[in-house]
Amino acid sequence: MGGRKKGIEMFVQSVSDGSMSDEEVIEYLAEIFENGLDSSETVLLTKEMRDSGVVIQWPEEMSALVVDKHSTGGVGDKVSIALAPALAACGAKVPMISGRGLGHTGGTLDKLESIPGFRTDIPVEELIQQVSKIGVAMVGQTEDLVPADRRMYALRDISGLVASVPLITGSIVSKKAAEGISALVLDVKTGSAAFMKEKASAEELAYSMKSVAEGMGISTTCLITSMDHPIGHAVGNSLEIVESVETLCGRGPSDLEELVCIQGGLLLSSIGLAVDQGHGSAMILDSLYDGSAFDKFLEMVKAQGGESSIFDSDRDMFAGLGLINSELYSTDVLSDHDGWVSDIDAVLIADLCLKLGAGRTELGGSIDHSVGIIIHVGIGSPVSKNEILATVYHRNGESDDLHAIKDAFSISEEPQFPSSRILGVV
Ligand code: URA
Repeated sequence: MGGRKKGIEMFVQSVSDGSMSDEEVIEYLAEIFENGLDSSETVLLTKEMRDSGVVIQWPEEMSALVVDKHSTGGVGDKVSIALAPALAACGAKVPMISGRGLGHTGGTLDKLESIPGFRTDIPVEELIQQVSKIGVAMVGQTEDLVPADRRMYALRDISGLVASVPLITGSIVSKKAAEGISALVLDVKTGSAAFMKEKASAEELAYSMKSVAEGMGISTTCLITSMDHPIGHAVGNSLEIVESVETLCGRGPSDLEELVCIQGGLLLSSIGLAVDQGHGSAMILDSLYDGSAFDKFLEMVKAQGGESSIFDSDRDMFAGLGLINSELYSTDVLSDHDGWVSDIDAVLIADLCLKLGAGRTELGGSIDHSVGIIIHVGIGSPVSKNEILATVYHRNGESDDLHAIKDAFSISEEPQFPSSRILGVV
């Protein structure tokens, strides 16, 4: 065992200093993928990864208020974009370091970069200053934070070694620990469009991440949430910013608002700004309805060089007009018959968005920020024949794919009822 631990230390060091070749790194990762790690080895891997770069130290007077959340990735998942400013409006400090989308899940950075001028490549020093001053920053991973993960994740991605509990734990928790946070909420997705298709595997990942993060002194709660149909109504980068902004103005879809309020409530109670999760969730909800969360979002956009004036149009009516690209084609998807919506297949929706250009199929590939889909119905919506189910915004003119997206919608003859996305708490 001691030998294996020594091996983990040397492995992470050799990944960071480049003394191991890509083939050797993949071989070592494949061994972990096949045989797993026990919990003390997973803790060691995570700590070594965290310490491969800078670990942020916050001024003592604010360090207990520093929080973050992370999602394992979903379709239409824009929770972070509404949650981070809402938390800051409630007094928390949020240095949110996010990733780019790859494959069918979108990335928070790609969505934010649809705001003209918005910079996500912010050095650590600037991140610390911005969070100390306004309470929130949403940025990308820099060269100096967890460099071991940058290389390991890229190699796992090209060699099919992503879906491993110890490797995902090391990757996610090391990045959050390097932010120097006190409390963390992890949104572990399960379902057809999630990494973890089965609830039991999502729970296994949640227990692993929680025990490792708590062992590193971070108060951690994991939510297990369903990822079978898209979150909210918008899928596609700028369309998701518009929906996030609508949520920040108290006009968001109920499933998105629930995820924002519950995760925010858990964090506010973990750091003592709320007496319990219910109180914390009410504080977050108030910040969405009284305009303070939206004000924080605008402050963040300005601080990071974004054109906040595009959101000025009319805060009481519709806050994202400046992001809608009027040059796009739009195609409506119509229902074939009367009934109630029983399923909206997130994988089919995400695959179409990928084909439209909203996502990337290889690391570093470019994306189209404007294209995407607005879904006009939700689970349980009554629909009539020829009613519009969704509108696809695209550049391609007509294509079979646009009409095939009808298959993503299942219409039942029996009434259907939406249920909460939250399946469990760990
Ligand atoms: N997201 C990460 O940051 N790392 C993983 O390993 C999986 C998802």
